[in-house]
Amino acid sequence: MPTLKQLLASDLQRQAELEGRPITRPTFLGFLRRLLHHRFLPIVLCRGSRAAMLAKIPLVPELLTYLNLVLFGLEVAPRCEIGPGIFFPHPSGTVIGAWRIGSHVTIFQGVTLGAKELDMSFDERLRPDIGNNVMLGAGCKVLGGIHVGDNVTVGANSVVVNSVEDGTTVAGIPARKLESKVERQRARSRDVNVPALRN
Ligand SMILES: CC(C)(COP(=O)(O)OP(=O)(O)OC[C@H]1O[C@@H](n2cnc3c(N)ncnc32)[C@H](O)[C@@H]1OP(=O)(O)O)[C@@H](O)C(=O)NCCC(=O)NCCS
Repeated sequence: MPTLKQLLASDLQRQAELEGRPITRPTFLGFLRRLLHHRFLPIVLCRGSRAAMLAKIPLVPELLTYLNLVLFGLEVAPRCEIGPGIFFPHPSGTVIGAWRIGSHVTIFQGVTLGAKELDMSFDERLRPDIGNNVMLGAGCKVLGGIHVGDNVTVGANSVVVNSVEDGTTVAGIPARKLESKVERQRARSRDVNVPALRN
């Protein structure tokens, strides 16, 4: 299992890549500026909260979770395991009650990941499991004990209630698979080639 330091280093590296910043060893001031950045501080708080929970340090998980909620409106259950390279482009209004989130996942604002009904026991069977390299669009909801595969994109404001296959894009309410642009072009050219039926 990666350490807190390794996880934060991978988060920082992914942010730098996505923001197009050079990956260099920062100065003390540069490090402080990044630490307080609204795209990095929430990650430090949620990772710190989980690390404190795993180390069985009393009160710290709750305190860090509470700080995240007050400062950024981001609520992340410390019990949710989050892989390296998580990225919140805009962290506000997001609630993360997934069972597990893979590596290199991007979560936009207003996303909810959780059970379909109130579940205060944090039951694995009722919580979503998110794969690697997933993009969760702004405002989407992923609900229930479902699996979202690797390399999936979930459209903005979609509600996902069924498991999603690897490598697909889903959108809508309830979310359904979107055809790729190539598939759509093929379907269009098929329509053009079919002669119109006459009565
Ligand atoms: C889902 C998404 C990735 C699809 O992008 P795309 O592959 O370029 O798809 P297109 O725009 O060509 O749309 C394909 C079809 O899906 C529909 N569609 C696209 N996004 C949708 C969404 N979020 N909900 C419902 N339908 C959607 C389009 O209307 C279109 O339908 P049509 O074929 O009947 O005309 C993108 O629309 C999206 O929602 N991205 C989220 C980004 C985000 O959250 N940004 C926040 C910035 S702050």
